[in-house]
Amino acid sequence: MCHHYRLSILLLLFSLLLVNPLLYAGPKEDLVRYQGYFQKRFSNLSLDDLSNGLYNFDEGRREQWEAIMEFPPYEIAIEEGEELFNKPFGNGKRYADCFDNGGVAIAHTYPRFNAKTGKVQNISAVINECRVANGEKPLRYLKGEIVKLLTYMADTSRGKKIDIQVPDDPRALAAYEDGKRVYFTRRGVRDFACYHCHWEAAGQKIRGNVLSTAVGQVTHFPSYRSKWGAVGPIQRRYKGCMKNVGAVPLKAQSDAMNNLEYFHTHMSNGISMNAPGTRF
Ligand code: HEC
Repeated sequence: MCHHYRLSILLLLFSLLLVNPLLYAGPKEDLVRYQGYFQKRFSNLSLDDLSNGLYNFDEGRREQWEAIMEFPPYEIAIEEGEELFNKPFGNGKRYADCFDNGGVAIAHTYPRFNAKTGKVQNISAVINECRVANGEKPLRYLKGEIVKLLTYMADTSRGKKIDIQVPDDPRALAAYEDGKRVYFTRRGVRDFACYHCHWEAAGQKIRGNVLSTAVGQVTHFPSYRSKWGAVGPIQRRYKGCMKNVGAVPLKAQSDAMNNLEYFHTHMSNGISMNAPGTRF
């Protein structure tokens, strides 16, 4: 009797171990599923092609875009960003001292999970952390100097494949899962989630725009946008989409926003960076 009991417990544990990885979709399984979905649906496009967003689906806009890209409007921001990046702080230290590899060719690995704080950080957050640690005032997010710094740093990652890590730490996984929740949550008077437009309706027209695919959306950020008349980071774009559905946008650099960026960037792992980019 006792033997049987032990055996069945063992069998139960064994089957749980076997079955669990199949039931639980973690970041790795998600990635295969998400990218597989878009590759199957748009089989004429490669994974790297997906990073051309709406221009994959709108010939007219694509031609205009290619014309603009002959003299990319973000070039000045790269130059100004490089200058700012190399300018020492009052104490003689530099931004390069706060990043690995001196801050060069690392943009494709952000946002990252920070094991000290247990939270997700994008480059903007590290830039401000670096400034404060060196006795400088933090910069405001989303516009101005910080965007120029991002633009320069992203340019040094051009051609590198997005590589977002979700380390084996329950807090990192929780941040990723929270980002997923934000992504799939309906919001605003129009009651739409990101998912409804950039997944279900990807490639379709909505109010004169063709919707880009969720996978491949992050690779050209920060990006120059005619509507902004400037280069802007991805969280500024997220806020725009939240406003468009009639929702109060999440705050830049809030946990929810950072987790969204973490989840959303992870789904483009393996796709080449082409930032900075240009959009209408
Ligand atoms: C009502 C539909 C709608 C919803 C919901 C929506 N967006 Fe958008 N989004 C658009 C449209 C339209 C554009 C401009 C066309 C394009 O690039 O897809 C856009 C553009 C973007 C872009 C820029 C793409 C590029 O190539 O530069 C990103 C990134 C983005 N959305 C992310 C999100 C996220 C994240 C959410 C959820 C918080 C979201 N969107 C919700 C309609 C939507």
